Amino acid sequence: MLREPITVRPDLVGEIVAREEAEFKKRTPRSHEIHERGKASLPMGVSSSFQAVPPYPLFISRAEGSRIWDYDGNEYIDFHLGFGSLLVGHSHPVLMAALRDQLGKGSLYSLPCPDSVFLAEELVRRFAPIEQVRFCNSGTEATMDAIRLARAHTRRDKIVKIEGAYHGHHDNVLMSTKPSLEAAGPARHPNTVPASQGIPADVKNNTIIAPYNDAEALDQILSEHEGEVAAVITEAVLMNVGIMLPQEGYLQRVRDITRRHGVLLIFDEVKTGVTVAPGGITELYPVEPDLICLAKSIGGGMPIGAFGGREEIMRHINHQEVLHLGTFNGNPMSMRAGLVTLTEIFTPEAHAHANQLSAALAKSYEDLIASTGLPMHVAQIGAKGCAMFRHERARNYRAWLEVDMELSFAYWLFLANRGILFPPGLDDQWTISVQHSQADIEHHARVFHEFVAEISR
Ligand SMILES: Cc1ncc(COP(=O)(O)O)c(C=O)c1O
Repeated sequence: MLREPITVRPDLVGEIVAREEAEFKKRTPRSHEIHERGKASLPMGVSSSFQAVPPYPLFISRAEGSRIWDYDGNEYIDFHLGFGSLLVGHSHPVLMAALRDQLGKGSLYSLPCPDSVFLAEELVRRFAPIEQVRFCNSGTEATMDAIRLARAHTRRDKIVKIEGAYHGHHDNVLMSTKPSLEAAGPARHPNTVPASQGIPADVKNNTIIAPYNDAEALDQILSEHEGEVAAVITEAVLMNVGIMLPQEGYLQRVRDITRRHGVLLIFDEVKTGVTVAPGGITELYPVEPDLICLAKSIGGGMPIGAFGGREEIMRHINHQEVLHLGTFNGNPMSMRAGLVTLTEIFTPEAHAHANQLSAALAKSYEDLIASTGLPMHVAQIGAKGCAMFRHERARNYRAWLEVDMELSFAYWLFLANRGILFPPGLDDQWTISVQHSQADIEHHARVFHEFVAEISR
């Protein structure tokens, strides 16, 4: 039965946050202590500012299968999975055996190894738009290199980036990832808002921001900058703002518009890669980008990145035109990890298993939301999904700003205290690995039911 949306009492949310935060602190004193100690030697006590979340980050001591243990020994079912880098789960036995074997043969050559060719062939097989690929070490490097290549190919300097999207932490794209409403400017022609200090004004001037799910606005922006824009970079499904799905026909129109303006289309598949489907987002939305960027789950948890496209674009990578370099590029540990993960572990059945568990979890959330009328919705695609505390689905970044962050925080804490670990940051998704079980999902669903009972009081 579908109910009218109810209002969750703000005083109740405050009460739950206070109680759950106290409980969290009681359970995790050693994380608190090591974090305080770490602040002396690491800014904010962490190595990536994404990890510095209130009340303090959980420090982790080990992980295995679908489980992860914090420094105090508390056990969680891990739905964070390295921000979605571990579709394979933790310490998969097949992967461990392969990596132990590789370690015995050396961890770094900085000369090519055969596995880099085999892994490249597997990526070409899986990802339709790719004819050739180059490896790097992170998603950040993948988007940085893809943009340089697009600029060289088109001989243009500017890029268009979508408001609310995240493509890593290099200067070109660290713009308007989460701008304040005041700074963001007009909705259909947003300002470029650097997300960090230290980015030169020249770089800022070369990144133009467009809204998601608005092909006409993009067309207009490209017309204003006719002949200046090298590429539009976007995730086909935004995953920096929960999960934001494209409206019917939007991606195809983006493809048509970019083609008409002679602009390359780069799909950032760092998160979507193998997690939404074996061959990534273009398997689900058959729109052909010119370049794609990969990282995270293609490497079985080892540091990896890759970018690829048609040979006529990739051929600019040579000693005269585009330089693509890196001491650790194609290193034997990451290559072996990626190859074994993609060819031996990620069978069609393994993909189906993770996707089916994710769909079942989303269904149990949806049924409860429909029957209680809670002001939230669920988005799920393949092994990824999330709950967003806004009654209606958000279609762009401005609408996403209306998500209730206090309620999102209460949800994160409540689940963590009951052994369900989500990514830090309240804007991310669950990932379900090939090692998660039906029992893991049932436990998660039970805890969500308890949370709903609490906030419906
Ligand atoms: C879509 C997307 N692109 C790029 C990146 C950057 O990847 P990395 O953190 O490996 O540099 C991320 C990281 O979360 C991402 O979500």
